[in-house]
Order: sequence, then C-alpha cells, then structure tokens
Amino acid sequence: MNTFEFKNPTKIIFGKNTIEKLKNEIPKDAKILLLYGGGSIKKNGIYDQVKQALTEFNVLEFGGIPANPEYAILMKALKVIKSENITYLLAVGGGSVIDGTKFLSSAALFEGDTPWDILSKKIRTEKSMPFGTVLTLPATGSEMNSGAVITNTATKEKLGMGGPGLFPEFSILDPQVIQSIPQRQLANGLTDAFTHVLEQYMTYPTGALLQDRFAESIMQTLIEVAPQVIADPTNYEAASNFMWSCTMALNGLIQKGVPTDWAVHAMGHELTALFGIDHARTLAVIAPSHYKFNFEAKKEKLAQYAERIWNITEGSIEDKAHTAIEKTVAFFHELGIDTKLSDYTEDYIGTAEEISKRFNDRGWVALGERQNLSPDKVEEIVKMAY
Ligand code: NZQ
Ligand code: ZN
Repeated sequence: MNTFEFKNPTKIIFGKNTIEKLKNEIPKDAKILLLYGGGSIKKNGIYDQVKQALTEFNVLEFGGIPANPEYAILMKALKVIKSENITYLLAVGGGSVIDGTKFLSSAALFEGDTPWDILSKKIRTEKSMPFGTVLTLPATGSEMNSGAVITNTATKEKLGMGGPGLFPEFSILDPQVIQSIPQRQLANGLTDAFTHVLEQYMTYPTGALLQDRFAESIMQTLIEVAPQVIADPTNYEAASNFMWSCTMALNGLIQKGVPTDWAVHAMGHELTALFGIDHARTLAVIAPSHYKFNFEAKKEKLAQYAERIWNITEGSIEDKAHTAIEKTVAFFHELGIDTKLSDYTEDYIGTAEEISKRFNDRGWVALGERQNLSPDKVEEIVKMAY
C-alpha cells in the first residue's frame, strides 16, 4: 500500500427532510449568496425548503449557473459577492452549481487580476470564502471533495482546480431530491459515479485489499440500484443507496494508498469543451477505448473486476479482462448511454489530433497511473472511440 495522508472536513447531513437543518450550519450574522442553476429547484420545491430554513438569515440570490459552469457567468456572480460584501456562499444544485460555487469561493479571495489564472496556472486554493451545499443531483461527489471543473466557452476549454480550501463546510443530502431528476440525468449520475470508481481502481495491483473492496462495493451497489432508480426515483431506499454511493465514489477515501488514473476524465473533459456532450457520456465514450489501448498494463485489475463485479470465473486473465470491458459497455448501454463519439456528433474527424495538440501545448505529456500516457497515445485512444 502506498503512503498517504487523509483529511476530509466536510460534514454530511444525510436523510429525509434534512434541508431544514440548514439553519444550524450557517453563522447567524452571515450575508449569504444562494447560488443555483437553471431553475429546476423552483419547480421541485427545493428552493422553497431552502428559503423556509433561512427565513431568519440575510440572503441574496444568484441563479442561472448552467450545466458545465461557465466562467463568464460566474464572473457576474463574483461582482455581486464583492459589491454586496457577501460572507457565505450556499450552492443549491448538482455538480455544476457546486463547482461554480467552489470557483467563486476561491475567486472571492484571489488577489490577482484574472481569476481564470486559478485554472490555467493551476493555482491551488488554500483558503476560500466559506460555503455549504444542498445537493440536488447525485453524480460528481463534488459535495464532499475539494475539486471543481470550470468551462470557458470563449476558449472552448474546461479546466480543473483544487486545494484544501475547496471542501464544503457541510453538505445536505436528502435522497428525496432525485424524484424530479430527468431519466437522462439519472443515467448520467450512475455513469459518472461508476467511472469515478474505475479511475481509482483500474490501474495495477498494489495489495491494497481494503481499498479494492471499498471500490468494488460501490460499483456493486451502483449496478444493483441502477435499474431501481431508473424505474422509480421515488424508491427511497434505492435513492439513498445511489446518493451515498456517488458521494463515496469521489470523496477521497477510495483513492488513498493506491495509484489513480484520471486519464478518462482528462480526455472526456475535452469532448465536453469541444462538443458540449454531457460529462458522464464523454466518460462512457473514452473508457472502453482507454482500457483496450492500455490492456497489458491494466489486465490484472480488469480480470479482478471481471471476477468480483461481473462474476466471470472462466478463462485466462486476458479472456476475463476482455469480457470485463464488454460488460462495462453493456452496462452503459443498459442505462441508455451511447459509447461512441460518432453517436453524439458527425463532426468528429480531427478531434483526436486536436486533443493531442492541446495536451502537448499544456504540457500534459505524462497522464495515467504510470505517468506514461503521452499525447500520441491519447490521440490513438480518442480515434478508437470514434
Ligand atoms: O440547472 P438546473 O435547473 O438545476 O438543472 C440541472 C441541470 O440541467 C438538472 N438538475 C439537477 N438537480 C435536479 C435537476 N433537475 C431536476 N431535479 C433535480 N433535483 O440536471 C442538469 C445537470 O446538472 P449538473 O449539475 O450539470 O450535473 P452534474 O451533477 O452531473 O454535474 C456535472 C458537472 O460536474 C463536473 C462535470 O465536469 C460537469 O461540469 N464534475 C465535477 C467533479 C467534481 N467537482 O469533483 C467531478 C466530476 O468528474 C465532474 O467532472
Ligand atoms: Zn466525473
């Protein structure tokens, strides 16, 4: 097992009707900016619950943060934060609203002229304006981690940021919120969380028995509840298992002491930046090609995954590993998620070269768990995904 340190300071408040507990978590004298997305919270009653919990607080609002949170829109929110002397941020939404809020919490204390530098120059966020979240969409794990991904439409870029200052102080997880989520987003959430586990598991064996079993149990739970969640989002038991699995998939725990990959996400983010494809779907496009291309390096873990997750007991390590990739593709298809780039755009020729060039320009020349995935290999993987 590799050496590690682990600290996750986010308080989780989980369960039915927990949004009312908001009032216990935010300082009474705070000047709050409530941030939300395109308005789903006004239709499903979550906005009313939040306002009800905060009747005795000083609250301003900023709505309209789009899926794949957009830098130019966030800069408008930053102006409000500064001109209104906001002291506390509250994200009410999915990964996009939470990530947008994380960017703002960092940008509010940033001393340079151009907050985009936080992303383009990879400036770690050590300190930020305090913030909490009310999660409305299980998927990203952003509610309990210290990362965020921000889109800049002007430059067609989607870049990540991180640092210990980006953990939410608290996150409220009421599984009942999934009742209003469209099928497409439920499938996205399941796929994103499943791929988060794969990124931290599908590397090479290091004898980390517990981490492997943590990862496997999250994947097994997601596979078990996926059809239930899709068939009936009012099934509270399925919803709660889905929600907690998504959080556990990316709150830092399962990656401690083990190598991690994250190349699928790096390539996937480019497909969102270039074509606007939903984040989770880009992962389903890239992951199968990535595992086929890196088959030799990953086959032991692929075979272990085949045995423990898909109950494949027959054949050689190679046979099991190949079947595991096929099973993964079939799982995405069962969720209604297409796994080829050409399923999403007719304009895909040249994409692989473009992504490879971008990685070269940014100096991203050594991705993957062995830091040996160079831009020319990225180009081949993306081509395989056409
Ligand atoms: O904008 P609103 O009206 O809220 O509607 C949203 C949006 O259209 C809707 N929605 C959310 N909760 C709902 C709901 N509709 C009905 N009922 C509800 N309860 O769902 C749509 C998608 O929301 P979004 O927040 O974009 O989805 P998701 O949570 O999948 O977040 C995706 C973003 O997170 C980033 C992705 O790159 C992408 O930008 N990620 C963040 C990560 C992190 N911070 O750790 C890791 C991930 O790998 C990912 O990269
Ligand atoms: Zn993801």
